Amino acid sequence: MQDFKRYQRLLENTLARQDFDHEPQELYQPISYILALGGKRLRPALTLAGCDLFNGELEEALLPALGIEVFHNFSLVHDDIMDEAPVRRGKKTVHEKWNTNIAILAGDAMLVKAYQYVAKVDKAILPKVLKCFSSTALEICEGQQLDMNFEKMESVAEDDYIEMIRLKTAVLLGAALKIGALVGRATEAKAHSLYHFGINAGLAFQVQDDLLDAFGDPSKFGKKVGGDILQDKKTLLRIYARELDPKGTEALTQSSLSGDAKVQAWQKFFVESGARSKAIEKRDFFLGEAHDALKNAAGSNQAVAEQLKEFATWLAHRDR
Ligand code: IPE
Ligand code: IPE
Ligand code: MG
Ligand code: MG
Ligand code: MG
Repeated sequence: MQDFKRYQRLLENTLARQDFDHEPQELYQPISYILALGGKRLRPALTLAGCDLFNGELEEALLPALGIEVFHNFSLVHDDIMDEAPVRRGKKTVHEKWNTNIAILAGDAMLVKAYQYVAKVDKAILPKVLKCFSSTALEICEGQQLDMNFEKMESVAEDDYIEMIRLKTAVLLGAALKIGALVGRATEAKAHSLYHFGINAGLAFQVQDDLLDAFGDPSKFGKKVGGDILQDKKTLLRIYARELDPKGTEALTQSSLSGDAKVQAWQKFFVESGARSKAIEKRDFFLGEAHDALKNAAGSNQAVAEQLKEFATWLAHRDR
């Protein structure tokens, strides 16, 4: 993990050199706010690791890595509107601190900034990088829409859930790695194998996110625990609970519980139905797939490959 800390530091230094202090401040202040709240900086670290894996120039990967992090932050600002989330990274969400219109526009501007940063790569690789970034951005919109569609559905098939989280979350981890690999001048085949590793690590990462949303420690998680339960998100926990105890699920779905009582009832049910254990198993299955995929993606730098393996394990088992 030492190298990941180094990547994260490099990203922080790059971010610190940017100037978001422009007029009108109503547009730019929320951008500075969300970016300054930190977060784990996973995706830019993956871009730098992807580049490092092929002994590329990290310097060349810094702005694209920042672009991916800015894009991620844009997606969070809009996601928090959609999910009616009050807290992000332990602080008020942008739409709560300001208002929804401010959050929409700040997000839009961040999307444009993200493209500007990602496009700062060598002309020789620009078409490939932009193709990867654009298709990923569109897939994330598709995933987000499916996620909201599922809120209204009574039941969702496991495969449909996996496709939804592949789109809303995993593709960005895959793209972060792939863009790093392209900057490191990896072959298309190697870059693609690394993408595949990112997809599986990303699936494990999102299942863990769902587990933390239901069972995390609020002081570490930085988001409102129980948010998914209150929004009727069809997480893997919810899908397995229905599969393992359809009657119990039906009863809870029909009940008039709300707020903390609703959260506590579902938490208890996820544990007692065995849904929680089953979701943990699935998370670790995806982690195993990620580790397997990494063997095909191996680049010239074996030490970085080892770090990536360790990092995927951390992503899947993180507590924040
Ligand atoms: C949150 O991502 C959104 C998901 C896809 C689950 P992170 O957990 O990486 O958020 P930050 O950037 O560290 O806050
Ligand atoms: C986030 O999914 C996916 C995107 C932001 C594109 P979630 O809605 O689960 O993310 P959190 O839990 O709010 O971070
Ligand atoms: Mg969401
Ligand atoms: Mg959300
Ligand atoms: Mg979540």
